Order: sequence, then structure tokens, then C-alpha cells
Amino acid sequence: RGPDVIDIRKLYSQTGMFTYDPGFMSTASCKSDITFIDGDRGELAYRGYSIEDLAQNADFLETCYLLLNGELPNTQQKAEFVRTVTMHTMVQEQMHAFFRGFRRDAHPMAILVAAVGALSAFYHDSLDINNPRHREISAIRMIAKLPTLVAMAYKYSLGQPFVYPRNDLSYSANFMHMMFSTPCEPYVGNEVLVRALDRILILHADHEQNASTSTVRLAGSSGANPFACIAAGIACLWGPAHGGANEAALNMLEQIGSADHIGEFIKRVKDKDSGVKLMGFGHRVYKNYDPRAKLMRQTCHEVLNELGLYNDPLFKLAMALERIALEDEYFVSRKLYPNVDFYSGIVQRALGIPKSMFTCIFAAARTIGWIAQWNEMIADPEQKIGRPRQLYTGEARHQLIPIAERA
Ligand code: ACO
Repeated sequence: RGPDVIDIRKLYSQTGMFTYDPGFMSTASCKSDITFIDGDRGELAYRGYSIEDLAQNADFLETCYLLLNGELPNTQQKAEFVRTVTMHTMVQEQMHAFFRGFRRDAHPMAILVAAVGALSAFYHDSLDINNPRHREISAIRMIAKLPTLVAMAYKYSLGQPFVYPRNDLSYSANFMHMMFSTPCEPYVGNEVLVRALDRILILHADHEQNASTSTVRLAGSSGANPFACIAAGIACLWGPAHGGANEAALNMLEQIGSADHIGEFIKRVKDKDSGVKLMGFGHRVYKNYDPRAKLMRQTCHEVLNELGLYNDPLFKLAMALERIALEDEYFVSRKLYPNVDFYSGIVQRALGIPKSMFTCIFAAARTIGWIAQWNEMIADPEQKIGRPRQLYTGEARHQLIPIAERA
């Protein structure tokens, strides 16, 4: 009908193909060597290593090294990587003033988007994204500083002083130290709890071309500063259909309250007009059990046992809800299974992390995936600026009528 339709036809005649694929249901936006998902079989692997193997036998920084470099580090490489990451855990002191500009009750994700974006102001002039060494140092800075910024957002919301990183602790132990220590009382680490946080970070580290990773790639395809690109990814992650689902899933469990109300809740979910979804269920790619959800459920058992909370009512409720949903025709026919977010909120809550911080923890974990994917894209000689087309459905051309003559 309009000139854009003619454009589309031209495009079609030049390339032989034009696809209209809302939500990218069946369009690959890139090639990648990093993460593989078999959604029908419920399998996930980073660089060829299964998520189960990594969650059991590697730690988060080894996983970061793997995602960035394509192979797991040996002992010497790991020691060097850990040393480099820990050298960069502090943020500029001016960031303290930046944080103080926010309302205390601001959502920590709003603060995190801004704080990570603000890092681009500190690392801009010296950064040449076409230089692999510069990209590597940006990646290291990002991995190192995200826990510091997340912990600062938490401390700010509490009105407590910021806690400086401790480089003698492991990555996850330091993360917990910065979140939970106060000048009056240091957080006393517990190996099981620290390992649980480390596992949460591993399970969320990458997930190929999800919405936030695609956002980072799209932002990065214009050559933008990588810290600004990661800030864009964090903004996208915030939504309840993506990273915000862990917070929404725990809210949902609290609202259901007890196993007696599950039937009533499921009825509302099935009523499409209600707008109610079973949060932490369903996935664009997994049409089988999300392998991360299984590992997260196992972590729930470990953490709750460690804390003596064997009968945690929300965990029991979540397992009962899962059992009922997996036998219900509505969920079976649509291949809806628990995703990683169904159980991660319960683990985080047990670790003492409040709901408002769940998505920030996810962002800290996913940062390595975002930056590894950004690095892969920039290094790809075939890389082009991302520029989706559209199917124009608007008006054909109008003749402009002078305003005084318009009806
Ligand atoms: N509860 C109830 N029904 C659901 C759910 C759910 N959680 N998820 C999907 N459905 C239904 C849809 O209503 C639709 O039904 P219909 O065929 O009768 O119309 C069908 O299942 C297919 O769902 P789509 O929306 O087409 O699936 P899509 O791939 O677009 O969405 C998504 C995937 C966004 C994750 C969706 O399942 C959802 O909203 N889940 C709840 C939020 C959530 O847990 N998000 C976390 C995802 S994992 C992550 O980001 C880490």
C-alpha cells in the first residue's frame, strides 16, 4: 500500500527472502560458539560442558573463564584469572556520591541500570573495542565490579554503609560479605551457603540469545561502550517475563499461601481473561524440564537442610504446585515446565537475600554471558549493525493539507 511495501518487495527480489517473525520464534540473529540449548531434551551446555557437570565440579570464576576463553582454565590459568578479577573489585569512590542521588526506596534494579551505565563514563576514552586486550580488560572489570555494585545497591536500600570488597575471599564469599557484613559484625561465611550462591551464578551465567543478551548484542552492534551495552541488558532483564520472574514467582507462592489454595489458583491461570500466569513456569526454548530448575531444586534441599529449615512451607508449596501442574492437561499440552526461576527465589530467600534483590543477583551472574557474547560479536569479521526490518501496516501516502483547511 505505501512506499515501504515497495521497499520490502525490492528486498525480497534482491535476497529471495523476507521473514516476518515476531518474537524471533524461528529466526537466528547470530552464530555463536558459546552456549547450546536442546529445548526438547532439556539440555544446556556452555562451550560443550553440560550445566550439570559445571554446577557440580566447577566454580563460578572457572565458568567465567570458560565462557570468555572457550576452555576451562588449568590451575595456573585459574590462579592468574582470580588474581586479575580480584584486582578490579573496587569501584571509583565517586560512585558513592552517585548512589546517594537515588531515593532510598528506589528499586535496586533501577539503581543498577544507572550505576553500570555510569561506569562507561570512567572507562571510555581509553577503550578501543577493536583491540582484543581492551575487550578482555572490560570483561574482567565487569565481572569484578558487578557484585560490588549490587551489594552497594542493597546497602543503600538499607541505609547502611557500603562494605568494601575483600580480596582474600572467594568470589561468592566476598559477594555475601559485601551484602551482609556491617561495620559492627562481619558476615560469617558458611561453605554450603557460599556454594549455593556460586551455583546460582553458574546456572544463570549464559543462556544464548535470550531477550537481554540479544539487547546487549544489538546495543553493541553499533560500537557502543560495553558498560552502556550491559546496562541495556540489565534494563531488559528487569521485566517480569524475563529476569524479574524469580521475584514474581516468590510473590505468587506467598499469595497462594497454602497447598489448599493451589486448585483455585490453577483455575485462575487457565482462565485467559484473568491475566494470571504460573510464574517460574514455561520457556520459549525449553519444551521439557529446564535442567537449571532441577539443579536449583536440589540446591533448595541442600540449603534448607543446612539451615535446619526442612519443613520450609514455601518450598513444600512450590513442590506441591509443581506436582499438580505437571499432571494437569493445560500445562502438559503446552509443554510448560518449571524454569530456573521457579526455585531460585526460595534459595535466595534462605540465603537472606530479599526479593527486591533477586533480579540484581541474576544480573551479576548473567554479566559474564553478556560480555562473552558481546566479545564474540565484536571479534566476528561478519559482524554488522543489528537492524531488523518491519512489515509496514500503516497508511498509504497522504497529501499534506494545510492546517487551516483540515477538517
Ligand atoms: N502460565 C500459564 N500459561 C502459560 C505460561 C505460564 N507461565 N507460559 C506460557 N503459557 C501459555 C500461554 O498462555 C500460551 O497458551 P495458548 O497457547 O493457549 O495461548 C502457551 O502457554 C504458549 O505460551 P507463549 O506465551 O506463546 O510462550 P512464549 O514462548 O512466548 O513465552 C514465557 C515464554 C514468556 C517465559 C512464558 O512462558 C511466561 O510468561 N512464563 C512466566 C514468566 C517466567 O517464568 N519467565 C521466566 C522465563 S526464564 C528466564 O527468563 C530466566
